[in-house]
Amino acid sequence: MLSISVKEFLLWKKKQLSKGGDQQSFAVLLDCLGGISTSDLNFLLNANSEENLYLKKNLDFLESVWEEHLFKFQPIQYLCGIAFWRDLKLKVTNKVLIPRPETELIIDIVFKIFGKKSPKLFFTELGTGSGAISIALALEYPSWNGIATDIDQDVLEVATENYLNFSSQSNLRFSCGDWWSPLESFKGKIDLAISNPPYIPNDTYEKLPKEVKDFEPKIALLGGEDGLKHINEIIQKAPLFLKEKGWLILENHFDQGEKVKNLLLKNKFTLIEIVNDLSGIGRFTIGRYK
Ligand SMILES: C[S@@+](CC[C@H](N)C(=O)[O-])C[C@H]1O[C@@H](n2cnc3c(N)ncnc32)[C@H](O)[C@@H]1O
Repeated sequence: MLSISVKEFLLWKKKQLSKGGDQQSFAVLLDCLGGISTSDLNFLLNANSEENLYLKKNLDFLESVWEEHLFKFQPIQYLCGIAFWRDLKLKVTNKVLIPRPETELIIDIVFKIFGKKSPKLFFTELGTGSGAISIALALEYPSWNGIATDIDQDVLEVATENYLNFSSQSNLRFSCGDWWSPLESFKGKIDLAISNPPYIPNDTYEKLPKEVKDFEPKIALLGGEDGLKHINEIIQKAPLFLKEKGWLILENHFDQGEKVKNLLLKNKFTLIEIVNDLSGIGRFTIGRYK
């Protein structure tokens, strides 16, 4: 632990933020590498500036990581190996998509459909990445059982580590394979399936910001010519795996809601709804199988 005065620390912090970047990314750096959480920071702002605080790494090291983030466009989450999502602190590597704040709403959609105290049911998540969605559900609903899948075994190792960090329960399992294929033995048994699949159209992918295109896994983003390749496959096979009246919740690109809705209609889904994210964008499409 390194000791430094609050005054010196706050001056250093101001200097770093004057180089660019946002407060949220800086908070990730301080929490994950410096050992100073946002609540510590708020407390410090009211502290006697002559008092000392303790850092896990020295200021030069923290500055070098911050500059790597600013000038090489590396996401701070990859540099720190951590992403915050809802109330979870998740490990991330460059194999794993950084879970996005807008995706957090999926958990609220589940609350809306099933209530907060729902009896035992069986859910699956296709393309779990860091495990964020499935872990949040497994923790919120200890009586539920779930299987989270992904095509990449390295990704599943990160997700499994994240789950074990939060829970000593065993209501979530992980299985590797292409979309529904790890679930062959659960045909007709799934109450709820969730996916935030890769949905970026090829030409949009080429124009993504450097910090996304150069660092985040392409396989987690690219959705083919029109972006709907994976969504199409997931919806077409869903009726084989969902129970009657089982729910499908999908995240999609901002302009895909109507198309996803039509795909659900064609595959005999009812109660279809396009759900807006906090910016008013139709980010999710949900439906019940018959
Ligand atoms: C957009 S990311 C979503 C990750 C995580 N669920 C989240 O919301 O942050 C899509 C995930 O789907 C996985 N994936 C891509 N193609 C797949 C396939 N054919 N079958 C299963 N998973 C796939 C990727 O590895 C990636 O983890």
